[in-house]
Parts: sequence; structure tokens; C-alpha cells
Amino acid sequence: MDETQARDRHLELCKQLHRHNYLYHVLDRPEIPDAEYDRLFRELLELEKAYPELAGPDSPSARVGAAPLDKFEPLRHTLPMLSLENAFDEAEMREFDARIKRFLHRDAEIDYVCEMKMDGVAVELVYRGGKLAAGATRGDGTVGENITENLKTVPAVPLVLADSAPELLEVRGEVFMDLRDFQALNREREENGEPTFANPRNATAGSLRQLDSRVTARRPLKIFCYGVGEIAGDVPSNHLETLEALQGWGCRVNLEGTRRVRGVDGVLARYRELVESREELPFEIDGMVVKVDDLALRRELGEKTRTPRWAIACKFPPRQAETIIEDILLQVGRTGAITPVALLRPVEVSGVTVSRASLHNWDEIDRLGVRIGDHVVVERAGDVIPDVVRVLAEKRTGIERPLPLPQACPECGSPVAKLEGEVVPRCQDLACPARLLEGIKHFVGRRAMDIDGLGARYIDQMLRLDLSESVADLYRLDRDDLFRFERMGEKLAEKLLGAIEASKRRPLPRFLFALGIRHVGEHIAKVLARQFGSLDNLAKTSRDELLAIHEVGPQVADSVVDFFASGRNREILDQLRAAGVAPEATERRAGGPLSGKTFVFTGTLPTLGRKEGQEMVENLGGRAAGSVSRKTDYVVAGEEAGSKLEKARSLGVAILSEKEFLTMIEKEAEA
Ligand code: IVH
Repeated sequence: MDETQARDRHLELCKQLHRHNYLYHVLDRPEIPDAEYDRLFRELLELEKAYPELAGPDSPSARVGAAPLDKFEPLRHTLPMLSLENAFDEAEMREFDARIKRFLHRDAEIDYVCEMKMDGVAVELVYRGGKLAAGATRGDGTVGENITENLKTVPAVPLVLADSAPELLEVRGEVFMDLRDFQALNREREENGEPTFANPRNATAGSLRQLDSRVTARRPLKIFCYGVGEIAGDVPSNHLETLEALQGWGCRVNLEGTRRVRGVDGVLARYRELVESREELPFEIDGMVVKVDDLALRRELGEKTRTPRWAIACKFPPRQAETIIEDILLQVGRTGAITPVALLRPVEVSGVTVSRASLHNWDEIDRLGVRIGDHVVVERAGDVIPDVVRVLAEKRTGIERPLPLPQACPECGSPVAKLEGEVVPRCQDLACPARLLEGIKHFVGRRAMDIDGLGARYIDQMLRLDLSESVADLYRLDRDDLFRFERMGEKLAEKLLGAIEASKRRPLPRFLFALGIRHVGEHIAKVLARQFGSLDNLAKTSRDELLAIHEVGPQVADSVVDFFASGRNREILDQLRAAGVAPEATERRAGGPLSGKTFVFTGTLPTLGRKEGQEMVENLGGRAAGSVSRKTDYVVAGEEAGSKLEKARSLGVAILSEKEFLTMIEKEAEA
């Protein structure tokens, strides 16, 4: 492929990827399977690798994030980003409507647009010539922070708009996280020994505040656009049409959750509907925003200093309750992280009795000013585990005690350390029984080694009976050991031993995840397994080699290197190996007929998908790589194979057609 062809193909790929991105993330109506999208995306990345000058700021590749910034620059909004006045009950909503009619000297009912009030972070996106030029937080309403690179990683933020979009367009919207995504993110953070976020809003704010946009890119952020700032060109005459136009230009709009209603009675009816359906929504809303639909009337109504006269936020009754913090428990996780958990006097919050609340970390404790014995307001944010949102300091009697940062581990008494940049102190003792318990619980977990039946109760007994000093000791348990457990019967013992035996051959990614290496969650475990093929290869790797992997950052690289550098960890791994734990390297099986051979697939093959071909190679023990080098043994090339084919030729690497490849595979599989 020459440069002109590359440029044409790049343009075509960008167009297609932008379009499919819009269909998937904005309209929720994908036209192609994910694998096909991934294929196009990979082709784009490969093309940009070969021709780096093609990778412009609005290429879909910008979504993976850019080099970290030192700080965010201030960005002045052309028009101030206002906030909203609140209405807390029916009377206040009626008053809002009456005020508008008075101001306009009108008796006729007003048309309003009712939107969901998203509980996230307000942002502005500036498009010039149809391209995303800048993105900012609201800040103080006049000046926000320039978080363009981070906003580019949000899949539903268009990098380019449709041709019909105005020359200048400032879009306003709310970035947020779906509840399920938020819970999964927190679960992953917990597993990786990182502090959890208190609610989806904090998780969103934290994600957008990252100086390294590659971190933001991995956070499941979404956006709903709900208005415009400066706009040059023909403007619709009412708000609902503006929203529809925004969607047509490429922006994600919550049209499904939006209604145009007549008069305040319409507003109230919609409000009741929303309160009802609130629990079923996939995201958090904290109210309904009511806006005058007619833009001419809006202009007439104008603004006060910080709030418009033409809109109001109708807040929802809080899912909150008041209770007392009876004690604060210090939980020690498997990475030694010490998390404070408030033990509450049981209280009902929207139908669920709650008795615990995570306080997350000491920054949060300081922010809230929480003391043991305090009256507090707790809130349930879509999850059963609530959060402490506020201390009722006026109810203090003087018996409340602050919670000092622990100097020693509450479980084993060894010293704790709070490292710079971390918000939780950690127990440093690898042999701490609480760390061990949590570590084994994680190891046997369903998504790790999946040792069915070995619950926390038995693990606890194992530790108490001194039967286990590490996960390796699980494989030494025999029937006699098991019979020392309380409530252990013949059948159960058989089942447990069977489950332990079966776990010896779990796939490598699960095993890597089970080891509980910090920052190595399920996804990174898969990436590492695919890249290294075996535990031994991974153990031998260097920081630089790890950093060369697209999805591995310095945190993960350091943590992996440290893990294998530890004598204690190597000892445990040796014991596991000696006990017969031999994880299956599913993706890159050693010892197969293609073992030691590296294949690269490029171009469109007549019948095989690239993934399919790669899997075939891997199933026979070979390696499928993404780029051609001297180490490549075969390049399987199809139509429109580009730079890789050229490189293979220049390096003298064997080139196969699909047919030749399939014949080879057949032979090897029979051998
Ligand atoms: S309209 C002048 N619409 O609520 C109009 N705001 O205090 C200002 N919000 O900062 C905003 N969903 O972060 C509007 N559908 C929606 C909204 C919404 C959430 C947030 C936004 C704003 C705050 C209002």
C-alpha cells in the first residue's frame, strides 16, 4: 500500500468507525457485531503505526487516551454554565409555573420539557467546524478545567459531528456511570486492593479528573447531552427540537426519558411517573429538570445571576435515613489495605434494612468529620450497601470519639504504613491472618480457581487449625485434615477434595487472577496470559517488556515485577507447582505441534476471520502476534494486506495464503 492508498483507507476507516460508534453508543442500534468493529479498529491502529502522521486528533484512535498531563489548564466558557434552582415539593413546582406566567403576563398554559436530572458531572463540549475542539468541566460556571483528552475517551462523545451540524456548537451534558458498571468497577478495585468509590457520581468525577487519559479510557463513562451554549447557524425554535437536532448531529441525548408536557399539571404527572420508575433505571437520577420549551419565551424570561428563570430542578425525596454509628470496624483486605466500615444502628432506607456502611478511607472520614457515636445521614445509591453522606454535628453529646489512623494492624498487630498518594494504610505483614484469609477467599473464588464449597467458614477453620500458611497448603489437605473441620461429613469431604483437585487445571488467566497480584484484575490477567503463555515466561519478564504491552501501565508493570521478585511468592509458586497445580495455557499452549511458531494475520481472508485464525494457531500451541518482526515465522495474508505484508517481504518471512495456512493446520492437527 502506498501513502495515498493508506490515506484513503484511513479516511474510510475513520468514517466507518465514527459511524458505527454513533450507531452503537448514541443510538443503541449497532449494525455490525463487536468483533467486526474491533477488526476495523485494529486495522486503523495498524495503519497509524505504519503511517503515524495519519493519527490526527479526531481519529477514533484518540479514544484510547494520550500521554499524561502535568495539570489541567483553565478553560473559560463562552457563555456561563448556569445552575438550577430547586423545587422540593408540589407547591414549589406550582410556584415556579405561576412565577413564569406572571413574568410573561400570560394566562395560557406553558409547554415544558421534562428531563431526567442525571446525577453525574456537568461538562461542555466545544465543536468547531464539526470537530471536537475542547471539552471542559463546569468549574465555577465561568471557568472550568480543560479535560479534552479525558472526554475524548468517552465512547458516546462524538469526535466529529455530522455534516449538518453548525460551524460552532457548544454542547452541554452530564457525564455519568451506569449503576452496574459502577458496581463492577468497585468490585474490581476491591479485588485489586484499591479504595472503592462512594457512589457513581464520585467515580465519574474521579475518572474525569485523571491526568492520564488512558486511565479514563478504561472507565465505563457515558454522557447525556441536554443543552447548548454558543451556537452559530440556524437554531431550532424550541428545546425539544434542539435535543433532537443534537442527536442528529451525533450527540447522545436521553430522548427516551424526555417528555414535552402542557402546564404544571403535566409537569406534576411526569414527576410522579419518574419517582415511580426511578428504581428501575440503569443509572442514578436525583430529580427531574423542567425547562420552558419555547426558546423565544426563554429569552424573554432571561436569567438571574446564577440561575435561569426558565428552568427548575424538581428534586426527588432522598433515599436517606438518619441513624447512629455504633462502632467503626477496621477491615483488612488481602493486599493489607485497612478499610473503615461503619456499624450502624439498623435503619430502613427505601425498603431495605441497613446496618453497615463503608467509610472507604481516611480522606473520606476527614471530609465527613465522622466520629464513633455520631448521628449520621445514610443514603442508598442503587446499592444495598449505603453511604454515610453527612454527620449531624448538632446532635453530638460529647461522648463521640474520633477514629485515629491505626498505627498497628487491627488483626495481627504488626506496623502499618500509609504510602504517599494512597488514601488507606496497609498492614505490611504478608503472614497477617486476615490478609491470608482474604487472599485464600480470593484464590478459591468463583472467578479465580473456583473451588466450589470451600467457603469462608472452612478457610477460617483451616487457619485456626494451622493447616494453612498460604494458598499452596490447600493442595496438601487430606481427608483427615478435613474431618477436623466442624460440620464436615463424608460426602462433603469427598466433594471438596474433588473440587480442589479439579482446580489444578484452571486456565492460566484465572490462575494469574487468583494469585492476587496487585492491579492485576481479570482483564489484565487475560492480557498477560495471552502475551506470555505461561507462568514461567511471565515470572521472567522485565518491566520494559511489560510496558510494551498496550494495556499495561507502570502501576501494573511494577506490581508484576515486584510480585515475582519476592522470595516468599516464589516459594509459594514452587509449592503450588510441586503440588501439581499446572494452569492450562489455553491461549498459547506450549508443546503443541505449532509450539514455538509465530504467526501474523493481515488483510481480509476469504473465509476465516482474523480472530478465528489466531485461535486455530493458539490451539495448536503457536503464537499469534499483532506485528511482523524478525521473530515472525509466517504471515498469513489476505486481500488488502498492507504494511505488514510489505514488512514480511522485506524481512524474508514466509507468506501464506489462507488455503496454504489451512492445509498446514490440517496436517499439524493430524500429526
Ligand atoms: S440543565 C441552565 N438538564 O444539574 C440549565 N442540568 O444545577 C442548567 N443536570 O449543573 C442545566 N441533568 O450538572 C440540566 N437534564 C439536565 C440535567 C442537568 C443533570 C445537572 C447539571 C447542572 C445541575 C443543575
